[in-house]
Amino acid sequence: MHYKDLNLTTTKKLLNNALKNGYAVPAFNFYNMETLKAIINAAQITQSPVILAVSEQALEYMGDDFLIGMFSKLNLKKGQFALHLDHGHSFESCKHAVDIGFSSVMFDGSTLTLSENIKISKKVIEYAHKHDVSVETELGVLSGIEDKNTKSKYGSYTDPTIVKDFVKQTGTDSLAIAIGTSHGMYKRKSNNEKLRLDILEQIANNIPKTPLVLHGASNIPQKFVNKINKFGGKIKNAKGISPSQIRQAIKLHITKVNVESDSRIAFMSSVREILFKQKDLIDPRKFLVPAMDTMCKNCIDEIQNIMGSGYKI
Ligand code: G3H
Ligand code: ZN
Repeated sequence: MHYKDLNLTTTKKLLNNALKNGYAVPAFNFYNMETLKAIINAAQITQSPVILAVSEQALEYMGDDFLIGMFSKLNLKKGQFALHLDHGHSFESCKHAVDIGFSSVMFDGSTLTLSENIKISKKVIEYAHKHDVSVETELGVLSGIEDKNTKSKYGSYTDPTIVKDFVKQTGTDSLAIAIGTSHGMYKRKSNNEKLRLDILEQIANNIPKTPLVLHGASNIPQKFVNKINKFGGKIKNAKGISPSQIRQAIKLHITKVNVESDSRIAFMSSVREILFKQKDLIDPRKFLVPAMDTMCKNCIDEIQNIMGSGYKI
């Protein structure tokens, strides 16, 4: 299957438009029909371009046939959606995604040595470009799950002095950078911790034509954390990146913003509330529909109030 038969487009097209026009395209992760529906509905309501992101684990969970089967009947608007492999960790994994119909892949070589990262990134890009698929690569290490490699004076942040050469050598379509975000719900100990926008500015100056990507960008809305805790959950000290910091980063060439944790807590806050209140409930649709709706509303909110990507389609 080729992505063009699924009415999908590349992230290269979506991100280059965003870079020219000063907004960011959200990459929302999904892992089943409900989360996919929530994101597509939000994109259609807001007329926003959206990157539908699938991690290796999510792909394994859904299975190739179910995933591509869903897309083959969706009749999406051309030019609005990309299907993107998030954090591909090997050439084989990226190749597999290209072969089954993804329009975009990320090769995450951030924990490798620089030369290994360049070598495999190039191999992925060569294969993907042959199939008209775009590629995101990564330099620098997000704190949390990726932070083993701290050799440069920039520590685990992306070193702005090497990005130009990396882009030239690999031919990457976009670059994920590390400026102080991290994956998951526990990104911040206090509100005083800020993104390293100074590093972002240097990177953007050195590679002004390359769309930049921010992973770990959830803001962890406290209303969802509070609701989860009110209805039987136990989440302590969860803190995300403030929306104003993300908006500033978008002004400095961040053109793809990755969000997964916000969708998870939005979805689960509804599930918890309904199961807590209705102890005799046995029809899963009775909590799945409101959960989808809560997640969809949060995606709409982020599209409109953080990404600035509404009405760009
Ligand atoms: O690749 C996915 C994102 O980077 C998820 O980040 O945990 O802040 O939602 P998040
Ligand atoms: Zn990520």
